[in-house]
Amino acid sequence: MINKERFEELFQQQLIKDISQEPIDIVLSGQYGKALELLRDAEATGLFPALVGPPGVGKTILCRYFASLRAKEKKNQSFFWLTMDESIKPSHFIGSFDPAITLKKGFVLEAFNPGPLLSAMLEGGTFLANEINRATEYSQNTLLEPLEEESINIPHLGRIKASKDFFFISAMNPEELSGTHRLSEALKDRIKVWIKLTYPDKTTELEIIRINLPEHFVIEESELELIYSIINETRKNKIDIEVPASIRAGIAMAKLLARRRSLEKEGKIKEKTSTNEYLSEITRHVLLGSMKPKPGTKVENIIESIIHKTLGA
Ligand SMILES: Nc1ncnc2c1ncn2[C@@H]1O[C@H](COP(=O)(O)OP(=O)(O)OP(=O)(O)O)[C@@H](O)[C@H]1O
Ligand SMILES: [Mg+2]
Repeated sequence: MINKERFEELFQQQLIKDISQEPIDIVLSGQYGKALELLRDAEATGLFPALVGPPGVGKTILCRYFASLRAKEKKNQSFFWLTMDESIKPSHFIGSFDPAITLKKGFVLEAFNPGPLLSAMLEGGTFLANEINRATEYSQNTLLEPLEEESINIPHLGRIKASKDFFFISAMNPEELSGTHRLSEALKDRIKVWIKLTYPDKTTELEIIRINLPEHFVIEESELELIYSIINETRKNKIDIEVPASIRAGIAMAKLLARRRSLEKEGKIKEKTSTNEYLSEITRHVLLGSMKPKPGTKVENIIESIIHKTLGA
Protein backbone atom coordinates (compact mmCIF):
# COMPACT_ATOMS: atom_id res chain seq x y z
CA MET A 1 0.00 0.00 0.00
CA ILE A 2 1.27 3.53 -0.68
CA ASN A 3 1.86 5.69 2.37
CA LYS A 4 -0.58 8.42 3.38
CA GLU A 5 1.59 11.38 2.32
CA ARG A 6 2.30 9.91 -1.10
CA PHE A 7 -1.39 9.11 -1.51
CA GLU A 8 -2.40 12.71 -0.75
CA GLU A 9 0.23 14.13 -3.07
CA LEU A 10 -0.78 11.87 -5.97
CA PHE A 11 -4.46 12.42 -5.31
CA GLN A 12 -4.12 16.23 -5.50
CA GLN A 13 -1.99 15.89 -8.63
CA GLN A 14 -4.50 13.71 -10.42
CA LEU A 15 -7.73 15.29 -9.17
CA ILE A 16 -9.97 16.57 -11.98
CA LYS A 17 -10.66 20.04 -10.68
CA ASP A 18 -12.40 21.54 -13.65
CA ILE A 19 -14.16 19.50 -16.30
CA SER A 20 -14.22 22.47 -18.70
CA GLN A 21 -10.41 22.28 -18.83
CA GLU A 22 -10.34 18.52 -19.55
CA PRO A 23 -9.29 17.79 -23.13
CA ILE A 24 -11.87 15.55 -24.78
CA ASP A 25 -10.99 14.25 -28.24
CA ILE A 26 -14.35 13.83 -29.82
CA VAL A 27 -15.47 13.39 -33.42
CA LEU A 28 -18.62 15.37 -34.10
CA SER A 29 -19.43 14.28 -37.64
CA GLY A 30 -22.42 12.14 -38.55
CA GLN A 31 -24.77 11.21 -35.73
CA TYR A 32 -22.66 12.86 -33.00
CA GLY A 33 -23.07 16.44 -34.22
CA LYS A 34 -26.80 15.92 -34.53
CA ALA A 35 -27.03 14.32 -31.10
CA LEU A 36 -25.10 17.20 -29.55
CA GLU A 37 -27.46 19.70 -31.17
CA LEU A 38 -30.43 17.81 -29.71
CA LEU A 39 -28.83 17.84 -26.25
CA ARG A 40 -28.44 21.61 -26.59
CA ASP A 41 -32.08 21.96 -27.67
CA ALA A 42 -33.20 19.89 -24.71
CA GLU A 43 -31.14 22.01 -22.35
CA ALA A 44 -32.45 25.27 -23.80
CA THR A 45 -36.05 24.14 -23.39
CA GLY A 46 -35.62 22.52 -19.98
CA LEU A 47 -36.49 19.05 -21.29
CA PHE A 48 -34.58 16.04 -20.02
CA PRO A 49 -32.93 13.85 -22.68
CA ALA A 50 -31.92 10.19 -22.84
CA LEU A 51 -29.20 8.71 -25.03
CA VAL A 52 -30.12 5.24 -26.17
CA GLY A 53 -27.73 2.87 -27.88
CA PRO A 54 -25.76 -0.38 -27.63
CA PRO A 55 -22.47 -0.57 -25.69
CA GLY A 56 -19.55 1.47 -26.93
CA VAL A 57 -21.26 3.79 -29.42
CA GLY A 58 -20.16 6.97 -27.65
CA LYS A 59 -22.94 7.78 -25.17
CA THR A 60 -20.59 8.60 -22.31
CA ILE A 61 -18.08 10.61 -24.31
CA LEU A 62 -20.89 12.70 -25.78
CA CYS A 63 -22.29 13.41 -22.30
CA ARG A 64 -18.86 14.32 -20.99
CA TYR A 65 -18.31 16.66 -23.91
CA PHE A 66 -21.73 18.26 -23.50
CA ALA A 67 -21.16 18.68 -19.75
CA SER A 68 -17.78 20.28 -20.40
CA LEU A 69 -19.37 22.78 -22.85
CA ARG A 70 -21.99 23.65 -20.24
CA ALA A 71 -19.28 23.97 -17.63
CA LYS A 72 -17.42 26.46 -19.83
CA GLU A 73 -20.53 28.53 -20.50
CA LYS A 74 -21.93 28.53 -17.00
CA LYS A 75 -18.54 28.92 -15.36
CA ASN A 76 -19.57 25.96 -13.34
CA GLN A 77 -17.39 22.95 -13.13
CA SER A 78 -19.61 20.21 -11.95
CA PHE A 79 -20.38 17.03 -13.76
CA PHE A 80 -21.58 14.06 -11.75
CA TRP A 81 -22.53 10.62 -12.83
CA LEU A 82 -23.68 7.35 -11.44
CA THR A 83 -23.62 4.06 -13.31
CA MET A 84 -26.51 1.91 -12.24
CA ASP A 85 -27.24 -1.72 -11.62
CA GLU A 86 -29.51 -3.65 -9.30
CA SER A 87 -27.40 -2.84 -6.25
CA ILE A 88 -27.86 0.93 -6.57
CA LYS A 89 -29.95 2.40 -3.73
CA PRO A 90 -31.55 5.83 -3.38
CA SER A 91 -28.77 6.77 -0.94
CA HIS A 92 -26.24 6.34 -3.73
CA PHE A 93 -27.98 9.22 -5.54
CA ILE A 94 -28.83 11.42 -2.59
CA GLY A 95 -26.07 10.69 -0.10
CA SER A 96 -25.94 9.24 3.37
CA PHE A 97 -25.11 9.96 6.99
CA ASP A 98 -21.64 9.15 8.23
CA PRO A 99 -22.28 6.53 10.94
CA ALA A 100 -19.53 7.72 13.32
CA ILE A 101 -20.57 11.39 13.28
CA THR A 102 -24.27 10.49 13.40
CA LEU A 103 -23.68 8.37 16.47
CA LYS A 104 -22.08 11.33 18.24
CA LYS A 105 -24.19 14.22 16.96
CA GLY A 106 -27.34 12.71 15.50
CA PHE A 107 -28.80 13.29 12.02
CA VAL A 108 -27.25 16.72 11.49
CA LEU A 109 -26.13 18.39 8.27
CA GLU A 110 -22.50 18.00 9.27
CA ALA A 111 -22.88 14.23 9.32
CA PHE A 112 -24.26 14.07 5.79
CA ASN A 113 -22.14 13.09 2.77
CA PRO A 114 -23.93 14.33 -0.36
CA GLY A 115 -24.33 11.94 -3.29
CA PRO A 116 -23.86 12.86 -6.95
CA LEU A 117 -27.47 13.76 -7.73
CA LEU A 118 -27.83 16.04 -4.73
CA SER A 119 -24.46 17.63 -5.50
CA ALA A 120 -25.49 18.38 -9.10
CA MET A 121 -28.81 19.82 -7.92
CA LEU A 122 -27.12 22.10 -5.41
CA GLU A 123 -24.33 23.25 -7.70
CA GLY A 124 -26.39 23.55 -10.85
CA GLY A 125 -24.28 20.96 -12.59
CA THR A 126 -24.98 18.14 -15.00
CA PHE A 127 -25.99 14.74 -13.66
CA LEU A 128 -25.68 11.68 -15.86
CA ALA A 129 -27.70 8.65 -14.89
CA ASN A 130 -25.71 6.05 -16.79
CA GLU A 131 -27.35 2.67 -17.58
CA ILE A 132 -30.50 4.02 -15.99
CA ASN A 133 -32.62 1.03 -17.01
CA ARG A 134 -30.43 -1.32 -14.98
CA ALA A 135 -31.59 0.25 -11.73
CA THR A 136 -34.57 -1.27 -9.96
CA GLU A 137 -37.87 0.57 -10.11
CA TYR A 138 -37.42 1.43 -6.44
CA SER A 139 -34.21 3.32 -7.23
CA GLN A 140 -35.57 4.80 -10.44
CA ASN A 141 -38.31 6.36 -8.33
CA THR A 142 -35.69 8.51 -6.58
CA LEU A 143 -35.49 10.48 -9.80
CA LEU A 144 -39.19 11.29 -10.11
CA GLU A 145 -39.26 14.28 -7.79
CA PRO A 146 -36.02 15.86 -9.07
CA LEU A 147 -37.27 15.61 -12.66
CA GLU A 148 -40.81 16.77 -12.03
CA GLU A 149 -40.48 19.30 -9.24
CA GLU A 150 -36.76 20.04 -9.42
CA SER A 151 -36.57 19.35 -5.73
CA ILE A 152 -35.52 16.46 -3.57
CA ASN A 153 -36.23 15.29 -0.05
CA ILE A 154 -33.29 14.41 2.14
CA PRO A 155 -34.36 12.23 5.05
CA HIS A 156 -34.00 14.00 8.42
CA LEU A 157 -32.74 17.22 6.83
CA GLY A 158 -35.54 18.52 4.64
CA ARG A 159 -36.36 19.25 1.05
CA ILE A 160 -34.09 21.29 -1.19
CA LYS A 161 -34.82 23.09 -4.45
CA ALA A 162 -32.45 22.48 -7.35
CA SER A 163 -30.35 25.34 -8.70
CA LYS A 164 -31.84 26.65 -11.95
CA ASP A 165 -28.81 25.36 -13.87
CA PHE A 166 -29.30 21.74 -12.79
CA PHE A 167 -29.53 19.44 -15.80
CA PHE A 168 -30.20 15.74 -16.03
CA ILE A 169 -29.16 13.33 -18.78
CA SER A 170 -29.72 9.61 -18.86
CA ALA A 171 -28.03 6.98 -20.95
CA MET A 172 -29.06 3.40 -21.54
CA ASN A 173 -28.64 0.36 -23.71
CA PRO A 174 -31.75 -0.52 -25.66
CA GLU A 175 -34.24 -2.29 -23.45
CA GLU A 176 -34.33 -5.48 -25.43
CA LEU A 177 -30.75 -6.30 -24.42
CA SER A 178 -30.72 -8.71 -21.54
CA GLY A 179 -29.72 -7.83 -18.00
CA THR A 180 -31.74 -4.69 -17.75
CA HIS A 181 -34.92 -3.76 -16.00
CA ARG A 182 -37.41 -1.78 -17.95
CA LEU A 183 -37.55 1.90 -17.47
CA SER A 184 -40.54 2.63 -15.26
CA GLU A 185 -43.46 4.25 -17.07
CA ALA A 186 -43.42 7.15 -14.62
CA LEU A 187 -39.78 7.91 -15.35
CA LYS A 188 -40.21 7.38 -19.06
CA ASP A 189 -42.94 9.98 -19.07
CA ARG A 190 -40.57 12.56 -17.57
CA ILE A 191 -37.83 12.05 -20.14
CA LYS A 192 -38.90 13.93 -23.20
CA VAL A 193 -36.09 13.86 -25.76
CA TRP A 194 -34.95 10.42 -26.91
CA ILE A 195 -31.68 10.42 -28.80
CA LYS A 196 -30.71 7.23 -30.53
CA LEU A 197 -27.06 6.46 -31.15
CA THR A 198 -25.98 3.51 -33.18
CA TYR A 199 -22.76 2.22 -34.78
CA PRO A 200 -21.42 5.18 -36.76
CA ASP A 201 -21.05 5.35 -40.52
CA LYS A 202 -17.73 4.17 -41.90
CA THR A 203 -16.09 7.60 -42.36
CA THR A 204 -17.02 8.65 -38.82
CA GLU A 205 -15.85 5.40 -37.26
CA LEU A 206 -12.49 5.57 -39.05
CA GLU A 207 -12.08 9.12 -37.82
CA ILE A 208 -12.91 8.00 -34.26
CA ILE A 209 -10.32 5.23 -34.41
CA ARG A 210 -7.71 7.69 -35.70
CA ILE A 211 -8.43 10.29 -33.00
CA ASN A 212 -8.07 7.62 -30.31
CA LEU A 213 -4.63 6.49 -31.48
CA PRO A 214 -1.65 7.94 -29.60
CA GLU A 215 0.19 10.47 -31.78
CA HIS A 216 3.27 8.37 -32.40
CA PHE A 217 1.15 5.44 -33.60
CA VAL A 218 0.60 5.53 -37.33
CA ILE A 219 -1.24 3.08 -39.50
CA GLU A 220 -2.12 3.19 -43.12
CA GLU A 221 -5.50 4.05 -44.51
CA SER A 222 -5.82 0.60 -46.13
CA GLU A 223 -5.13 -1.05 -42.76
CA LEU A 224 -7.77 1.06 -41.05
CA GLU A 225 -10.23 0.05 -43.74
CA LEU A 226 -9.47 -3.61 -43.11
CA ILE A 227 -10.05 -3.17 -39.38
CA TYR A 228 -13.35 -1.50 -40.09
CA SER A 229 -14.45 -4.31 -42.38
CA ILE A 230 -13.65 -6.90 -39.68
CA ILE A 231 -15.62 -4.98 -37.05
CA ASN A 232 -18.45 -4.36 -39.45
CA GLU A 233 -18.77 -8.11 -40.18
CA THR A 234 -19.72 -8.65 -36.52
CA ARG A 235 -22.53 -6.13 -36.96
CA LYS A 236 -23.84 -7.74 -40.13
CA ASN A 237 -24.05 -11.27 -38.70
CA LYS A 238 -27.28 -11.04 -36.73
CA ILE A 239 -27.85 -14.79 -36.83
CA ASP A 240 -24.87 -15.79 -34.68
CA ILE A 241 -24.11 -12.59 -32.81
CA GLU A 242 -26.28 -11.02 -30.13
CA VAL A 243 -24.07 -8.02 -29.33
CA PRO A 244 -21.50 -7.13 -32.01
CA ALA A 245 -18.09 -5.50 -31.57
CA SER A 246 -18.19 -1.85 -30.57
CA ILE A 247 -16.00 1.09 -31.49
CA ARG A 248 -13.70 0.06 -28.63
CA ALA A 249 -12.75 -3.15 -30.45
CA GLY A 250 -11.67 -1.26 -33.58
CA ILE A 251 -9.62 1.17 -31.49
CA ALA A 252 -7.92 -1.74 -29.72
CA MET A 253 -7.08 -3.49 -33.00
CA ALA A 254 -5.67 -0.31 -34.50
CA LYS A 255 -3.49 0.27 -31.42
CA LEU A 256 -2.09 -3.26 -31.50
CA LEU A 257 -1.35 -3.09 -35.21
CA ALA A 258 0.23 0.36 -34.89
CA ARG A 259 2.49 -0.88 -32.10
CA ARG A 260 3.69 -3.78 -34.26
CA ARG A 261 4.41 -1.35 -37.08
CA SER A 262 6.39 0.97 -34.85
CA LEU A 263 8.45 -1.92 -33.41
CA GLU A 264 9.19 -2.99 -36.97
CA LYS A 265 10.31 0.51 -37.87
CA GLU A 266 12.62 0.64 -34.89
CA GLY A 267 14.12 -2.64 -36.02
CA LYS A 268 12.98 -4.43 -32.88
CA ILE A 269 11.12 -7.07 -34.88
CA LYS A 270 13.33 -8.86 -37.34
CA GLU A 271 11.09 -10.91 -39.59
CA LYS A 272 8.51 -8.94 -41.51
CA THR A 273 4.95 -10.15 -41.18
CA SER A 274 2.22 -9.27 -43.65
CA THR A 275 -0.63 -7.01 -42.59
CA ASN A 276 -3.09 -9.85 -43.04
CA GLU A 277 -1.11 -12.16 -40.79
CA TYR A 278 -0.85 -9.53 -38.09
CA LEU A 279 -4.49 -8.65 -38.38
CA SER A 280 -5.65 -12.28 -38.19
CA GLU A 281 -3.76 -12.67 -34.95
CA ILE A 282 -4.97 -9.37 -33.51
CA THR A 283 -8.54 -10.12 -34.56
CA ARG A 284 -8.47 -13.38 -32.60
CA HIS A 285 -7.21 -11.69 -29.46
CA VAL A 286 -9.51 -8.69 -29.57
CA LEU A 287 -12.76 -10.20 -30.80
CA LEU A 288 -12.75 -13.09 -28.32
CA GLY A 289 -14.25 -10.94 -25.59
CA SER A 290 -15.58 -8.08 -27.69
CA MET A 291 -18.86 -9.57 -28.82
CA LYS A 292 -21.61 -11.69 -27.41
CA PRO A 293 -22.56 -14.74 -29.49
CA LYS A 294 -26.08 -16.14 -29.50
CA PRO A 295 -26.55 -19.08 -27.12
CA GLY A 296 -25.16 -22.30 -28.59
CA THR A 297 -22.76 -20.52 -30.95
CA LYS A 298 -19.01 -20.71 -30.40
CA VAL A 299 -17.30 -17.35 -30.55
CA GLU A 300 -14.09 -18.91 -31.95
CA ASN A 301 -15.97 -20.23 -34.97
CA ILE A 302 -17.49 -16.84 -35.68
CA ILE A 303 -14.07 -15.22 -35.48
CA GLU A 304 -12.47 -17.71 -37.87
CA SER A 305 -15.21 -17.21 -40.41
CA ILE A 306 -14.85 -13.43 -40.17
CA ILE A 307 -11.07 -13.72 -40.67
CA HIS A 308 -11.62 -15.99 -43.64
CA LYS A 309 -14.12 -13.63 -45.21
CA THR A 310 -12.23 -10.36 -44.68
CA LEU A 311 -8.57 -11.37 -44.75
CA GLY A 312 -8.79 -14.58 -46.69
CA ALA A 313 -6.43 -16.26 -44.23
N1 LIG B 1 -17.63 10.57 -31.34
C1 LIG B 1 -16.54 10.03 -30.77
N2 LIG B 1 -15.36 10.68 -30.81
C2 LIG B 1 -14.24 10.15 -30.27
N3 LIG B 1 -14.21 8.97 -29.62
C3 LIG B 1 -15.37 8.27 -29.53
C4 LIG B 1 -16.58 8.77 -30.10
N4 LIG B 1 -17.56 7.87 -29.88
C5 LIG B 1 -16.98 6.87 -29.19
N5 LIG B 1 -15.68 7.10 -28.98
C6 LIG B 1 -14.73 6.22 -28.28
O1 LIG B 1 -15.28 4.92 -28.27
C7 LIG B 1 -15.19 4.33 -26.98
C8 LIG B 1 -16.58 4.03 -26.43
O2 LIG B 1 -17.28 5.25 -26.17
P1 LIG B 1 -18.19 5.45 -24.87
O3 LIG B 1 -17.48 4.95 -23.66
O4 LIG B 1 -18.61 6.86 -24.86
O5 LIG B 1 -19.40 4.49 -25.25
P2 LIG B 1 -20.75 4.16 -24.44
O6 LIG B 1 -21.84 4.23 -25.43
O7 LIG B 1 -20.83 5.04 -23.24
O8 LIG B 1 -20.49 2.67 -24.02
P3 LIG B 1 -21.18 1.81 -22.80
O9 LIG B 1 -22.59 1.54 -23.23
O10 LIG B 1 -20.36 0.56 -22.78
O11 LIG B 1 -21.05 2.62 -21.57
C9 LIG B 1 -14.39 5.31 -26.13
O12 LIG B 1 -13.04 4.94 -26.17
C10 LIG B 1 -14.58 6.64 -26.82
O13 LIG B 1 -13.47 7.48 -26.61
MG1 LIG C 1 -20.80 4.53 -21.17
